[in-house]
Amino acid sequence: MHVQTGTTMQRIIDLRSDTVTKPSPEMRRAMYDAEVGDDVFGDDPTVIKLQERVAGLLGREAALFVPSGSMANLIAMSCHTSPGDEVYCEAGCHAFNYEGGSAGMIAGVMMHIIEGVRGAFTAEQVEERLRPGDHHFAPSRLIWVENSANRAGGTIFPQDEISRLRELADRRGMGFHLDGARLWNVAAATGKSEAELAAPFDSINVCLSKGLGAPIGSLVVGSREFIDESHRFRKRFGGGMRQVGVIAAAGLYAVEHNRARLVEDHRRARKLAEAINGLDPFEIDLQGVATNIIIVDTSPGGSSGPEVIARLKDEGVWGTSFGGAKFRLVTHLDLNDADIDRAIDMFRSLFG
Ligand SMILES: Cc1ncc(COP(=O)(O)O)c(C=O)c1O
Repeated sequence: MHVQTGTTMQRIIDLRSDTVTKPSPEMRRAMYDAEVGDDVFGDDPTVIKLQERVAGLLGREAALFVPSGSMANLIAMSCHTSPGDEVYCEAGCHAFNYEGGSAGMIAGVMMHIIEGVRGAFTAEQVEERLRPGDHHFAPSRLIWVENSANRAGGTIFPQDEISRLRELADRRGMGFHLDGARLWNVAAATGKSEAELAAPFDSINVCLSKGLGAPIGSLVVGSREFIDESHRFRKRFGGGMRQVGVIAAAGLYAVEHNRARLVEDHRRARKLAEAINGLDPFEIDLQGVATNIIIVDTSPGGSSGPEVIARLKDEGVWGTSFGGAKFRLVTHLDLNDADIDRAIDMFRSLFG
């Protein structure tokens, strides 16, 4: 995509999200060549291959291919809970903020919000909020972790705290879910395998359509029993799909070819964050820039996030406003070093 600035056409540098990537010619070829069947009958060979591959990567028994991360989260939440139960999560998490209230409307649960630090909370914070087993209270049923934490800036949840949360969940008979939409980024950034990162959880959502660059698709991952139950909820939510080997093939391509390169997105995010943080009107928590997401605070310069986003947009650099004094920039596989350099030049010329 291009935009006219003055008399020249400029390539748009789209930093709104890592979901804006387009399938590459090689990915499209894999889609074209995919063997397909009816996945509701369970006989699409490409879907089966993708499910087995992702379950294997995460060290679990089984996985279920679903259209979106929101559906994967909702399926997992529905499997773990009954209406009226309580789910403990961080205040900025995607399921609480950006999934249309489905937790309340469809799963029928209450989200018990914990103010964390960089998207993470502690076992002590959960434990002090847990309800007594008395009939006045909602049953405390599920602990919900997001890693990396999108709204916090792609931050990484400390793995030792995850172990403590696992121990708490065991002690209190609670479920433990990971919204790992960007677990691939955490693996690339930490050098830990996806299996190691996923090991403490009962269920995991991973997305193919974010940093990995597939056009669609997520998977619920867990034990065979959990995935059997997930199947029923996928049907209830209208997520059963037919000859979807054509899109599973894009996911398989993404898993095989686009995980290792995520470190490039992280390097570019770091470079961009450091350059923007060097400008007076902006402040960035550089310690939080661990993967491909940057949250910029515009309060030092006194302008709002939407104002800054609007000025950048006129020059062909796109980001996402978070309202107030914050906006978000995300690096991804459709951006190269020259794009990042041009974005930095644009920031310097507009705000330097
Ligand atoms: C952390 C996280 N979880 C879940 C989702 C939902 O994914 P989808 O947009 O595929 O529904 C997103 C989307 O950006 C996300 O960032």
